[in-house]
Amino acid sequence: TSSASKCPFHASAELNEKAQKFDMFGPEFQHCPATALQSFREEKPIFFSEEMNYWVVTRYEDIREIFRDPVIFSARNVLEKFTPDTQETAEILQSYDYGMNRTLVNEDEPIHMERRRELLEAFDSSKLEGLRELTKTLVTNKVDEFIGLGKVDLMATLLWDIPVIVALKFLGVPDDDISVLQQFGVAHKVNTWGRPSLEEQKHVATNVGKFWHYSGEVLERMKQNTEGQSGWMYDMIRKNQSNPRVVTDNYLHSMMMAILVAAHETTATATANAIKHLLSTPKLWQKLHHQPQLIPSAVEECLRYAGPIVSWRREATENIQINGVDIAKGDKLFLVMAAANRDPEQFENPEELDILRDNASEHLSFGYGAHQCLGRNIGRLEMCAFIEELTRRIPDMALSEQTFTVTPNTSFHGPEALWVEWTPKAVQGTEKT
Ligand code: HEM
Repeated sequence: TSSASKCPFHASAELNEKAQKFDMFGPEFQHCPATALQSFREEKPIFFSEEMNYWVVTRYEDIREIFRDPVIFSARNVLEKFTPDTQETAEILQSYDYGMNRTLVNEDEPIHMERRRELLEAFDSSKLEGLRELTKTLVTNKVDEFIGLGKVDLMATLLWDIPVIVALKFLGVPDDDISVLQQFGVAHKVNTWGRPSLEEQKHVATNVGKFWHYSGEVLERMKQNTEGQSGWMYDMIRKNQSNPRVVTDNYLHSMMMAILVAAHETTATATANAIKHLLSTPKLWQKLHHQPQLIPSAVEECLRYAGPIVSWRREATENIQINGVDIAKGDKLFLVMAAANRDPEQFENPEELDILRDNASEHLSFGYGAHQCLGRNIGRLEMCAFIEELTRRIPDMALSEQTFTVTPNTSFHGPEALWVEWTPKAVQGTEKT
């Protein structure tokens, strides 16, 4: 196409019409959020979807500018439900005294930073060695269990469980009810970012209500005995006792629910996406088997190429222009990091998965600025541990024939199942090769 047709101010009539009707739940975006917006990124990088009542932002530089200013671009709508409650679902939630309120991810300054500072310490890299060891042990034991089979769904056997166990360890929360928590986590995702049918909505509301109730109970039990206990939730319980203005009771309870979702599905999906793409690109898996020192940069590149959170939201708190487009106070913005991470202005040959790319870590998959993901180093260390163990022990792993499915939602993207196969092997210790 001519350069004139790529001018942001002269998008084609067809694209303008597509913009007005753009629906995040439509098949293109659900199938591949990273490429669905490619022509918009080129010709109409910020556009208003009348269908969804959101500004959609697709370029790297614009999204980074928005993330950079948490005052003009408030995070208050980050957990707003795409599918609002009906009277019936509101009543279901009420029956559980549901009261999820602000958590770090969706609150405004200055209180956000005040709280973030209080809660930062445990995320420091130097404190995460124990989690790395725990993850390695869990992965090794699981691989021992299935290496003789020659074929598994990695999501179900490996990736879905370990991030919950690691997250609970980090939080100091007992891990006796993992499967219940996983089920609640999925309900929270559909409740916030999904488009459930009326019938599903009731089921989801019941699980979200139960999740709230359950996290309250666990917290109460934890509060009874904090002495000598370690974990982020215990840190927070202590802050709640010493500084109740900053860490309030409701904050503690809301955070307990939110952090499980933040830590679990993100890491499981990030790893599934990474493995899927590493196995789809010829020779990469073998390369990592022979050169495991490349795994951290491969992980970073996979986060750029196929991060688990493909979009995030902000709301304008004043009239403002972004890249020449007028945004009014109160307007809502849908930031498509998946599109920004493939922006050729920022990443050379963006459609190529290049594990040696030197600026891969500039991706926006962890957000940017004031709210940038606090758990990013936990996510990274888990991804590395999974990929190290799998490339080391199963160098001939290959993707099985399969059709990938996703849970329809606006922001979390990754396969529900990931079938892989290899020549069955003996467990470690009995392996001779
Ligand atoms: C926030 C992604 C793992 C805890 C976020 C945000 C994103 C994100 C996109 C919003 C950033 C923004 O608004 O600028 C991811 C990805 C992960 C991951 C891709 C895994 C690969 C984790 C883990 C934890 C965690 C393991 C905790 C153990 C948090 C917290 C916030 C957050 C507390 C809120 C920070 C704030 O608003 O100040 N994450 N996350 N995340 N994440 Fe993660």
